Amino acid sequence: MMRLPVIGLLLFSALPARSQEINLAKIFADAGQQTNVMLREIPVAKQGNAELVSPRTLDSGMLKLVASRDWTSGFFPGQLWFLYEYTRDKKWKTAAEQFTSDIEREKTNGGTHDMGFKVYCSFGTGYRLTRNPHYKDVIIEAAKTLSTRFNAKAGVIKSWDNRTRWKYPVIIDNMMNLELLFAATKLTGDKTFYNIAVSHANTTIKNHFRKDLSSYHVVDYDTTDGSILQKTTHQGYSDESAWSRGQSWGLYGYTMCYRETKNKNFLSQAEKIAGYMLNHPNLPVDKVPYYDFDAPGIPNEPRDASAAAVMASALYELSTFSSNGAKYKAAADKILESLTNQYRSKVGENKGFLLLHSTGSAPSKSEVDVPLSYADYYYLEALLRSRSMKAKVKKS
Ligand code: GLY
Repeated sequence: MMRLPVIGLLLFSALPARSQEINLAKIFADAGQQTNVMLREIPVAKQGNAELVSPRTLDSGMLKLVASRDWTSGFFPGQLWFLYEYTRDKKWKTAAEQFTSDIEREKTNGGTHDMGFKVYCSFGTGYRLTRNPHYKDVIIEAAKTLSTRFNAKAGVIKSWDNRTRWKYPVIIDNMMNLELLFAATKLTGDKTFYNIAVSHANTTIKNHFRKDLSSYHVVDYDTTDGSILQKTTHQGYSDESAWSRGQSWGLYGYTMCYRETKNKNFLSQAEKIAGYMLNHPNLPVDKVPYYDFDAPGIPNEPRDASAAAVMASALYELSTFSSNGAKYKAAADKILESLTNQYRSKVGENKGFLLLHSTGSAPSKSEVDVPLSYADYYYLEALLRSRSMKAKVKKS
């Protein structure tokens, strides 16, 4: 586990907070080399099991692949699209097309809310870069499937099925799936998808947030009248704690909702979440959160580089909308500097993952202090967003 010594932290915090420039060309060259390592490791890890299509993490040093139904299956295809976006090298496009098509069957899988993670990060990113009409059809079909999980009485999309602990669980992560719905309305002109997304975002503002502006992880609804049965956690330290990646999902989700709707409540919600995270006394100097802002053993708790990567990507976009733009951009720059200089794998190691020190689920002791494919995806997205940010940051 990565633990920065307290004395080191104190000394470091005494230094002026000046972000160094990061060298994007070098980082993307390294990321390309690492991804080549991953592309060589994937067939080895498959061991003949064709169902395993996408890398997720390292398990005791071994590459763990997942089937398309896993919520993480879209991130590696998305990573390949990002490499194509930066380099315009056709070899990344070819690889991205192959890994994207491997998860197409998910477009009709109505048993999960993770459609946006799976289909939008892969087909959505591919469509943005290629305008491939088949990708458009997949996005629309996936949005139709996701819409079947919406309950009008509760006003939200159900996250998980078949869990004994909750009746109609909705997790803050679900905000990320709304981007697929907004995309489907833009592609079809059918407002149904947009309306579902807005209902989900509004209902989540009402029920997921505490007075201190942190969010619960899981809110359980009674669909007979839309009332709340319980507010709990699944991956955070406790029901009343602030699970870091959940805060990042909310920040990214409301920033994206503002982009798509221009509804000021969504901008304000994103700013409130950013304020909670950036001003929190337990946010380390390097701005890479512990897995939970309230983890009891801080500073001896695992970090979550994935939460930091999602946060950086969201802050870059938020900086283009908010009058606090310069502050958000500076924070995102700091996160990218930290991830790049202190959390990256050496080229050739870790089966080709880019970032180390993420945490999947600390309470279940699962995927603690490991690489995770979604950390790599949002790291590359944040790096791409960091390009020409100076011109885009909103002036206060
Ligand atoms: N969406 C699941 C997670 O963030 O771990």
